[in-house]
Amino acid sequence: MVEEDHGSNATDNATMGEIIAQRLSRRDLGRGLLAVAVVQTLLPKTNAIADPATKREHATRAFDFHEVEAGSDTTHHVAEGYDADVLIRWGDRLKPGAPEFDPQKQSGDTQAEQFGYNNDFIGYLPIDGKSDHGLLVVNHEYTIEELMFPGLGRQDRQANFAATTADHVAIEMMAHGGSVIEIKRDGGKWHVVEDSKYARRITAKTEMRISGPAAGHAKMKTSADTSGAHVFGMLNNCAGATTPWGTWLTCEENINGYFWNKDALDAHPDAAAMKRYGIPQQAFAWGKFEPRFDIAKEPNEAHRFGWVVEIDPFDPASIPVKRTALGRFKHEGAGNTINKDGRFVVYQGDDERFDYVYKFVTDAKVDLADPKANKDILDHGTLYAARFSADGRGQWLPLVHGQGPLTPQLGFADQGAVVIFARQASDMLGATKMDRPEDIEVNPKTNKVYVMLTNNNKRSADQVDAANPRPENKFGHIVEITPDDGDHAALTFSWEILVKCGDPAIAAVGATFNPLTTANGWFGMPDNCAVDALGRLWVATDGNSGFRTGRNDGIWAVETEGAARGTSKLFFRVPVGAEMCGPCFTPDLETFFVAVQHPGEADEDDPNAPPATFENPSTRWPDFKDGMPPRPSVVAITRKGGGKIAV
Ligand code: FEO
Ligand code: CA
Ligand code: CA
Repeated sequence: MVEEDHGSNATDNATMGEIIAQRLSRRDLGRGLLAVAVVQTLLPKTNAIADPATKREHATRAFDFHEVEAGSDTTHHVAEGYDADVLIRWGDRLKPGAPEFDPQKQSGDTQAEQFGYNNDFIGYLPIDGKSDHGLLVVNHEYTIEELMFPGLGRQDRQANFAATTADHVAIEMMAHGGSVIEIKRDGGKWHVVEDSKYARRITAKTEMRISGPAAGHAKMKTSADTSGAHVFGMLNNCAGATTPWGTWLTCEENINGYFWNKDALDAHPDAAAMKRYGIPQQAFAWGKFEPRFDIAKEPNEAHRFGWVVEIDPFDPASIPVKRTALGRFKHEGAGNTINKDGRFVVYQGDDERFDYVYKFVTDAKVDLADPKANKDILDHGTLYAARFSADGRGQWLPLVHGQGPLTPQLGFADQGAVVIFARQASDMLGATKMDRPEDIEVNPKTNKVYVMLTNNNKRSADQVDAANPRPENKFGHIVEITPDDGDHAALTFSWEILVKCGDPAIAAVGATFNPLTTANGWFGMPDNCAVDALGRLWVATDGNSGFRTGRNDGIWAVETEGAARGTSKLFFRVPVGAEMCGPCFTPDLETFFVAVQHPGEADEDDPNAPPATFENPSTRWPDFKDGMPPRPSVVAITRKGGGKIAV
């Protein structure tokens, strides 16, 4: 996460507080208590619920591993019987001739050839179908000046980052974006292939093409790009996805932080839209040195960010493409599936308090026989926002120009305007305001869809609704969507809450984990997630830098079916200050890649905690060397002696 996000949705879309009680009581009773009753009848009579060993044997049917103890220290922990090896760290060389990482001698040029900062999404694309040789595509979401740069410290945003230099900004811009690396497993251990022809850095300056309904739109034109069809860079790429045709979808999230000049906001030609997107926020110093990030100097530049970017990692010369048909908002990820009619469906969260869940359905069918035939499939289709009704049903509301309120009279001149201002279009359609929709993944075995809602401390008691039932939702929840008839293109669906997160031992929290969950197994702030080849749900959390749970973030294995539904177990835990990202499996389920993002940050809620800086981080993971700052890294988890994960 970057700073505190703004809740910028001022609409009064239904919050349905009036109906929540009846629905929740029925559903909670149906799911939670019934499940407990069933489990209890299945378990041995002897104090089964209280005995962790018994729980391991009987409760979690889909996952087989001994859970990690929840807690907080300076290093990572993985379940017994597994190795967790650092594969690549911030600053590791990617390109032939790139220098070794030296934090005292870093420059924009060196960083451009090295692995970027704050790894988030990870995708694995097999080479020749292999699970021991492939490309890893990795997002680099953002930078943290006080942990990256010697002697700089945390800069005051209001004081315009007084000590930040153009050299710092050059490094930051090159540390953003993404990396493509070729990796191989030999003798059971993974390594990065040196001098690979695929090795590539995408940065905040990489040339990109804009395609779809917003390409060439008047609102996309700038003084540097009068075509409105080309842009330099992608920003704040959080989660993402890979596609069945071998490309990488990488999603721009908190783009508001890069833009400057609040004084110019009211005079901006799209002031209302800029406010709806929380722009400008000035969380980075870039506007000091790069005029395009000043909203007065370049009023349309901000419209060119906040998109899903498609990249072909198998062609290092390929130009990344911003696919505007998928809408512009703070994209978390792009969980996807091939629908039963052959069309491609992408589920998307807009990670902001009170923002929406989306899906995009292509017009054309995916051609698996000819991957190149899908080259522009994401340019044509229908974008929808979700409305969750109190009766457990839901509707997908089409963001189509000319339909409903999306007309020129109401401010939408064309489909380009609909996608550029997708948040406002969804406001007018009456989509349901959610508790920060993060990653969304489809379970291809069941066709159920899992939506991570990370938290929303700003929801008041009179704003709760059935799908967002807790006021001041500090710990988040997970919503499960079931498309009607298993049809992901259908306009209607059913939904229910899989689990409300937080510590079940504190009644006031209102968490609803299955009681078979041990004291180690509960979590807060679900964020990224993955569904593995066996249809099992793995949840990564982001809670350490915000509202604390008293336990470091990690990967939790969450049961979704049967009597154990809603049971959670801790599999991997990050070092202090870090957020857990990435989760990604090889197709053979023998390797689990995870991303450790921003290790070494301070506990923001502890007034006695020293500020985390380059000189004084909360951990120096993973190198633990004096003078070496903590380094965001990708970790490869494998089973000692080989074998599938948690089977
Ligand atoms: Fe970058 Fe929504 O987490
Ligand atoms: Ca997050
Ligand atoms: Ca995330």
